[in-house]
Amino acid sequence: MPDDVPYILGHSQAELRRLMLQASILQPITRRLLLEAGLRPGMRVLDIGCGTGDVSLLAAELAGLHGSVVGIDRSAEAVATARGRAEAFGLHNVAFREAEAGAFDDPDPFDLAVGRYVLIHQADPAALLRAVTARVRPGGTVAFHEIVLYGESPTWPPVPLVTEVWDGVMAAFASVLPHRDVASRLVEHFHRAGLGNPSLFCETPVGGGPDSPVYAWFVQTLRSLQPQIERIGRPVPADIDTLEDRLRDEAVAAHAQLVGPHQFCAWARVPGQDRGDRLSDCE
Ligand SMILES: C[S@@+](CC[C@H](N)C(=O)[O-])C[C@H]1O[C@@H](n2cnc3c(N)ncnc32)[C@H](O)[C@@H]1O
Repeated sequence: MPDDVPYILGHSQAELRRLMLQASILQPITRRLLLEAGLRPGMRVLDIGCGTGDVSLLAAELAGLHGSVVGIDRSAEAVATARGRAEAFGLHNVAFREAEAGAFDDPDPFDLAVGRYVLIHQADPAALLRAVTARVRPGGTVAFHEIVLYGESPTWPPVPLVTEVWDGVMAAFASVLPHRDVASRLVEHFHRAGLGNPSLFCETPVGGGPDSPVYAWFVQTLRSLQPQIERIGRPVPADIDTLEDRLRDEAVAAHAQLVGPHQFCAWARVPGQDRGDRLSDCE
């Protein structure tokens, strides 16, 4: 599988903390995906590109004590953090492995595979979908949660500093990601992977007022992307240490409604003869 898209967010400790903040914002949307995709107690789940493990931990909660989750990531730092968190929570039904999604193998098929913000980082999203599908039993489910990373900041009334941060983040992603539109083309990629027509929904995180986590999310993302923003010759907003407070102050003063990036979720059944043995174990 082609593997030539540099992962520009990196895996610094600050980036790993950013993933956890981001996960707290996205959690209700991913939970909806997992439930609508049919995750229920007793299932065996694979989490592709698990990062710090938040989707795996959520799936482990839904799969229950008789289910299990394997989270994989190509980053040793991310896997170590995810493992440490699972241990700290005393969870025994979730395991993490350092692995490349295209090369990952496991002797037993999974009932459901999920990935969040992973297709967008691939050179060929359909190739990754095919590789993941091969690890899921016939009749099982492949589910992805992806982000729209293009377009203008739709915050109203416009706040110039929010626009500056948003534009820097979008420019950095645009400079490396060949499929920034992956969230808007999930039907096409699922078809190319032989999964047919997926079920879909879209949600959008919104915020406003002094307590919104969106300011921190935007600024921490900008921080992780700062080296790439500088590499492409764009200015980074000045005084980044105070940026979150200034964003909040400007947005609150303007009574601005902050609109985060759209989140598209899709899932489909894996074609083939479903022997039904694992499912009947779960019911
Ligand atoms: C944006 S992070 C999302 C992490 C996690 N899914 C979440 O939503 O919190 C994407 C993660 O996918 C991993 N990743 C991307 N492509 C991968 C691949 N082909 N195989 C394994 N891991 C991959 C990256 O190392 C990174 O940790």
